[in-house]
Amino acid sequence: MGKGFNKDFLWGAASAAHQIEGAYLEDGKEMGIWDSFAQKPGYIAHGENGNIACDHYHRYKEDVAIMKELGLKSYRFSVSWPRVIPKGYGTVNEKGLQFYVDLVDELLDAGIEPMVTLFHWNLPTAAYELGGWENPEIVKWFEQYADVVSKALRGKVKYWITFNEPQLFIGAGLTSGAYAPFERKSTESLMKISKNFFLAHGKAVRKIRKNCDNAKIGMAPTGEVVIPEKAESECIEKARKKTFSMTKEGFTSSIAWWSDPVFTGVFPQEAKTYFSEILPEFTEEERRIITEPLDFYGFNIYQGGGEPDIPGGYDRYSYQGSPKTAMEWNVTPEVMYWCCKFLYERYGKPVMITENGMANYDWIALDGKVHDPNRIDFIHRYILSLKEAVKEGIPVLGYQYWSILDNYEWINGYDKRFGLVYVDYWTQKRTVKDSAYWYKEVIASNGEIL
Ligand code: NOJ
Repeated sequence: MGKGFNKDFLWGAASAAHQIEGAYLEDGKEMGIWDSFAQKPGYIAHGENGNIACDHYHRYKEDVAIMKELGLKSYRFSVSWPRVIPKGYGTVNEKGLQFYVDLVDELLDAGIEPMVTLFHWNLPTAAYELGGWENPEIVKWFEQYADVVSKALRGKVKYWITFNEPQLFIGAGLTSGAYAPFERKSTESLMKISKNFFLAHGKAVRKIRKNCDNAKIGMAPTGEVVIPEKAESECIEKARKKTFSMTKEGFTSSIAWWSDPVFTGVFPQEAKTYFSEILPEFTEEERRIITEPLDFYGFNIYQGGGEPDIPGGYDRYSYQGSPKTAMEWNVTPEVMYWCCKFLYERYGKPVMITENGMANYDWIALDGKVHDPNRIDFIHRYILSLKEAVKEGIPVLGYQYWSILDNYEWINGYDKRFGLVYVDYWTQKRTVKDSAYWYKEVIASNGEIL
């Protein structure tokens, strides 16, 4: 039994390139699919886009200074593939790459551990036009990209994440069509896409290992973790089972489809039953590639699922008037404990909370400050639950609040504010929210004030 958070626990915050950088065609960057689709009417709320976003590309020094002031131990950000290799393959854009070297140097000078995500959804449009994730060539393209970035940042960056949420960029992007590129692929195509994904992940891990000594590598999936109705073994087992199950139509949104092959080398039994002979096949060498050992299980977690007793019945977290965030997501702090427990049991790796946070319709009050007591309460509750997992001896490496800045929330545009820091998009003025000052105290006490 542990007591509390380790002294080297990574208290941090997160972001993603497309959501904050702006500078969408500057210094050699070309279009990614999110840039391209935002130019067309009807895809993004209010016709908004990430062209300027938080202008972080030009203001990263100011942003890192705020992170330093808050005492962040780590900062998780993503590299923009179309900034570094504009077409997705071939010519490297040195200027674009230099931005990340500069950002990392700034973080290191501020005493903040950089955590790099290679792919956070903005696939270069030129690669998309050649078939994107369905084209087997993408494995080589991604491998080159991983090689270029890990060489440029070697000796500086220790924490690496290959992919952010395949459940969204393949599940929503290519299965339900809710996210860019807004497509609904056939099951056969999704099998090819999945195979390419697994191989691209494994090849990237190999490149990072080769280029960076002492790298700590993971992925950052998401998915619905079911909270047991009661802390009794029968309920726990039911919740565990449901957490790792999938439906035939929704398999690309599940946790197990993306995690079991990577961490255990085999597809989950349900997948075998649903898809039998169309399941991707791997040679022995390919299997070694996709199961390249990882150092942690990164997880993006916002809300838990309930266990409807009647099939198709209501999730018990969606009762009338239940607490919800501006995303309409249920406030369910206990999910922190249960996700750490279930994921550690199944995959045997230390857990890193790569994202957690809440959206709010924040604004600047008459006194010039941003008062967000509900966000403080939200983080407080979720971290207390995380602490339960830590006390039980489950290894948890860190907590990255989503997000450091208010930012561009994909199809939802700019209304939903997740930041610890308020961004006025007209002036680009940053205002540190009450929650950020509170989080600073949490970090300074290593979670002891909770
Ligand atoms: C998941 C994604 O990784 C991130 O890009 C997004 O903004 C947050 N969660 C909130 O939806």
